[in-house]
Amino acid sequence: MCGIVGYIGSRQAYPIILNGLKRLEYRGYDSAGIAIYDGAGIQLSKTKGKVSDLEKRVKKEIKTTGTLGIGHTRWATHGVPNDVNSHPHYSNSGELVIIHNGIIENYSAIKKALIKRGYSFYSETDTEVLVNLIEDIKKKENVKLGKAVQIALNQVVGAYAIAVFDKMKPDEIVVAKLGSPLAIGIGEDEFFVASDATPFIEFTNNAIYLEDEEMAIIRLGREVRVRKIKNDSLVVPYVQELQLNLEQIEKGGYDHFMLKEIYEQPSVIKDTYRGRLLASEGIIKLGGLEDHIQKFINANRVIIVACGTSWHAGLVAEYIFEDWARIPVEVEYASEFRYRNPIITEKDVVIAISQSGETADTLAAIKLAKQRGAFVYGVCNVVGSSISRETHSGTYTHAGPEIGVASTKAFTTQITVLTMIALKLAKIKGTISQSNYMKHLRELEMIPHHVEEALKSDTKIRAIAEVFQDAANFLYLGRGYNFPVALEGALKLKEISYIHAEGYPAAEMKHGPIALIDEQMPVVVIAVNSNHYEKVVSNIEEIKARNGKIIAVVTEGDSTVKELADYIMEVPKTPETLSPLVTTIPLQLLSYHIAVMLGRNVDQPRNLAKSVTVE
Ligand code: F6R
Repeated sequence: MCGIVGYIGSRQAYPIILNGLKRLEYRGYDSAGIAIYDGAGIQLSKTKGKVSDLEKRVKKEIKTTGTLGIGHTRWATHGVPNDVNSHPHYSNSGELVIIHNGIIENYSAIKKALIKRGYSFYSETDTEVLVNLIEDIKKKENVKLGKAVQIALNQVVGAYAIAVFDKMKPDEIVVAKLGSPLAIGIGEDEFFVASDATPFIEFTNNAIYLEDEEMAIIRLGREVRVRKIKNDSLVVPYVQELQLNLEQIEKGGYDHFMLKEIYEQPSVIKDTYRGRLLASEGIIKLGGLEDHIQKFINANRVIIVACGTSWHAGLVAEYIFEDWARIPVEVEYASEFRYRNPIITEKDVVIAISQSGETADTLAAIKLAKQRGAFVYGVCNVVGSSISRETHSGTYTHAGPEIGVASTKAFTTQITVLTMIALKLAKIKGTISQSNYMKHLRELEMIPHHVEEALKSDTKIRAIAEVFQDAANFLYLGRGYNFPVALEGALKLKEISYIHAEGYPAAEMKHGPIALIDEQMPVVVIAVNSNHYEKVVSNIEEIKARNGKIIAVVTEGDSTVKELADYIMEVPKTPETLSPLVTTIPLQLLSYHIAVMLGRNVDQPRNLAKSVTVE
């Protein structure tokens, strides 16, 4: 969380940094700041609030001319969001200025030692401690900035992506990474630094992604020098050619990124299976899987680790893996798994699912599983992300950049990948009949079309949102494959509308939540064609008997539920196994419209950040 951006070259740094911060705002948006070297000193402005607030403040407060600068958009960890705690932070002498994404865990001990040495602190942040530690080492040891950063980082415990410069030596930026992402864009006699490549995509396609425990000295007129933080040894950096384009990171006429991303699902699901699913030939080809297929076939069990929406995709995978491939699956919250001494053996395969590929808990769960000998497979969206590099192998979802904080297209593309893996394993193991296998390949190929159809109910769903926008609570119910969809629907609603919502397996309702039902309670029930259809109908009757208001997701042409429900949202017919890919669409739209009607910041809901790089 937090976005960092920096520039050194011959262009004006301010517009590049400001625009970069706007693109990185998905990573955190409770405060923002900027520092520019103006040829004589540092111009620094920072504020609680969003990048747009910073922009206004900068206009009143500082001169923005200068070709070296750094900027930060914050998701608070240490210290409340206020002006003082915002980044950048000066060192006591005012010579160094730093931005930081991450947490320095031992900052308190370092702070005490620095106070004894005469340092003062103005903010509550761990970052201000780090910049003063660097300054102290630089002065005490009489070393250059790069060396001081290296020594300091060997003393800190935690996670970081930092960028720091020295006004006495304004031809370089020093950056370092452990646990939080950091990309360096390489232009012609100019360099960019950012948490991801979006701030510099219109300037260069060449980037170095620092590995953990690496730092780089970025000096004008010289190649980027990358070093290991531990022993200062030089590393030959790999300059990657980026596949990103500007269009992918713009709203493209939609009011919000979330809506754009909901509507992108037909095309990105296609991108996910393009070249991998050859339905007419009965082939599924997944590059990352081919060489490791025996690991899956011989696995005692598959353990899926993930957080949030990705965890919900993992739950769907549990159903399909067990159903088709007959491999036992456990789905774990990465944050619990990593701390509970789980039993993991070399015969286990761990699948880590993550949109961002940077989620700290998932990353830690992967490291733990690797230490205990498991084979770890990643399902990630962001190419080159930490999780994609930390796993033994994996499959990218190819959903394109997901910028709305609420995950939408990441979920459906993750399920698409997991479905292909399950089908492939089932085919090899012989646990699925040839006809069922072929049927599902063809049906999977049809999903983009079905999603497109489901999206046509948008206006109708907006009308339903209008009716229920003032509800204080929602209940979401589903069974079987659609139980995870109920959880996901509830999560979408609460995170962007701030309405309390709970997802439940429909049959569990009578073991507790039924007590909540009265005429004030909207209950969203996923009641599409399935093996449990009649059971779900009975659950709906139970809700009706208690005056609950029913909003049902039904298969086109349904008549039974239509009569019982107060409102219906229709989706095309699919096999039950693939239904989460379409039943989730109306739930995304419902939460989107309610949030818009309530005037919420849909793309940047309060307290959240897109990429959770702290535990
Ligand atoms: C919900 C949401 C979060 C993420 C979770 C994991 O809409 O976006 O729950 O799904 O933080 O993030 P990734 O998938 O990046 O590991």
